[in-house]
Amino acid sequence: MAVKLMKMKLLVTGGAGFIGSEFVRQGVSQGYRIAVVDKLTYAGDLERLKQIKGKYKFYNSDICHKTGIEAIFKKEKPEIVVNFAAETHVDRSIQDAAAFIETNIKGTQILLDISKKWKINKFIHISTDEIYGEIRKGKFSENYPFQPNSPYSASKAAADLLIKSYIRTYKLPAIIIRPCNNYGPWQYPEKLIPVIIYKAFKNKKVPVYAKGLNRREWLYVSDCAKAIFLILKKGKIGGIYNIGSGIEKKNIDVAREILKILGRPKSLIQFVKDRPGHDFRYALDSSKINKLGWLPETDFKQGISRTVNWFRQNQAWLESKVGYLRDYWKRVYK
Ligand SMILES: NC(=O)c1ccc[n+]([C@@H]2O[C@H](COP(=O)([O-])OP(=O)(O)OC[C@H]3O[C@@H](n4cnc5c(N)ncnc54)[C@H](O)[C@@H]3O)[C@@H](O)[C@H]2O)c1
Repeated sequence: MAVKLMKMKLLVTGGAGFIGSEFVRQGVSQGYRIAVVDKLTYAGDLERLKQIKGKYKFYNSDICHKTGIEAIFKKEKPEIVVNFAAETHVDRSIQDAAAFIETNIKGTQILLDISKKWKINKFIHISTDEIYGEIRKGKFSENYPFQPNSPYSASKAAADLLIKSYIRTYKLPAIIIRPCNNYGPWQYPEKLIPVIIYKAFKNKKVPVYAKGLNRREWLYVSDCAKAIFLILKKGKIGGIYNIGSGIEKKNIDVAREILKILGRPKSLIQFVKDRPGHDFRYALDSSKINKLGWLPETDFKQGISRTVNWFRQNQAWLESKVGYLRDYWKRVYK
């Protein structure tokens, strides 16, 4: 008789967010038992998990609340923690850094302490390429020095340093993952690509910082989640892994491609005052994860047309977020 192997129990923080929810959807379909912990901030939304309703456990909890999180560990007895929970938007961190320090640093410290106490098998932390700062030429390898330039990236860098200290001091079995810019379905429409899509749908001016020459490396979200699963299975404890697609684009070219797909004129692009401290370029050396057996499956042309189509089919969701964003857009795009 075939024995069905029960997959490990994962505790996924920030699982109602953009990348975390893709990870949870993939995890459930692979047979992992998953408990999601999410505070449901403005950026969190259980709609993202509606297709797997009833197939995961959910806790509406803040990773900064030690007793609440400890009670969840006691109940769920997770074997692996995957920490996506974070305040994630650079522009918001420039307006007010307080929540970024709380969640991204203090919240991580609380998860680390509880994971240490409960002797978790693996602690997988989702960091970012932004901790390296900007690079005009060449690529960031995993041992490139930290030079974060925004309160967001500084808070993420602080968390990475804390984790490195727990690995060394307490032998905490942690792995740090640093993805480049993600895009795809369900991304909250404060981030570049869904902002462009929304404005283009509405035939409104599409705001682009400065002259649009800043460059980013773009990774389709399902490819990112697949890379995280590979690292979860095969990554070296104590290791750090960049996840980059190698697909680098100027912001202006991203805007032009979306307008082209939607048949809108380039004249909709409106250059706005640059973001303070704006990093010019990020680019990751991803050879380590490539050697582990991962390559992105989605090229930009496929990924961006799938994303535009998804937003076209989910305009009600997009609209439901925009009411909250109108005042914010006025403050950020001048
Ligand atoms: N989106 C990207 O392009 C990108 C790139 C590199 C790294 N990252 C990192 O990946 C992770 C996920 O990013 P995302 O784009 O999915 O973010 P997101 O903003 O879409 O989701 C974050 C989730 O965390 C939850 N959350 C926030 N504070 C919390 C708290 N105190 N306690 C519990 N839950 C809380 C939110 O409710 C939300 O569901 C983050 O750590 C981010 O720094 C993102």
